[in-house]
Amino acid sequence: MTTLTRRYRFSASHRLHAAGFTEEENRELYGKCNNPYGHGHNYTLEVSVRGEVDGKTGQLARPAVLDELVGREVLAELDHRSLNEEIAAFSGGGEGMVPTTENLAAWIEQTLQAGWRTAFPDGKPELCAVRVLETKRNSFELRT
Ligand code: NI
Repeated sequence: MTTLTRRYRFSASHRLHAAGFTEEENRELYGKCNNPYGHGHNYTLEVSVRGEVDGKTGQLARPAVLDELVGREVLAELDHRSLNEEIAAFSGGGEGMVPTTENLAAWIEQTLQAGWRTAFPDGKPELCAVRVLETKRNSFELRT
């Protein structure tokens, strides 16, 4: 079993604020990430797939096929967006998830899984990890 990882970039803004907490609790919980007008990040996204190397092509997957899927399903949706305002899963006045990078990684994983067979009809390779780097000091990895 071999793993291929492709790296992408996108920019988006967010505000961390959980509807179940008071204003003061939110400030304490999220610090400056709770500032009312939000702030942006230049995110790096790494998507890893695993599978067997094809004996004829010597490849695990065609990178261009993965790039097209990630570009269409994820980057086109998230790039230069306000996550709180423009992505339904994160908005909705308390209904949506808080757009932490943990939750963003989960959204990306679910979105890729939902569209996976449009790019890889036989389900191969498999998605094995989504890693989102938010800052130079923070990264989050979701393994499937
Ligand atoms: Ni932030």
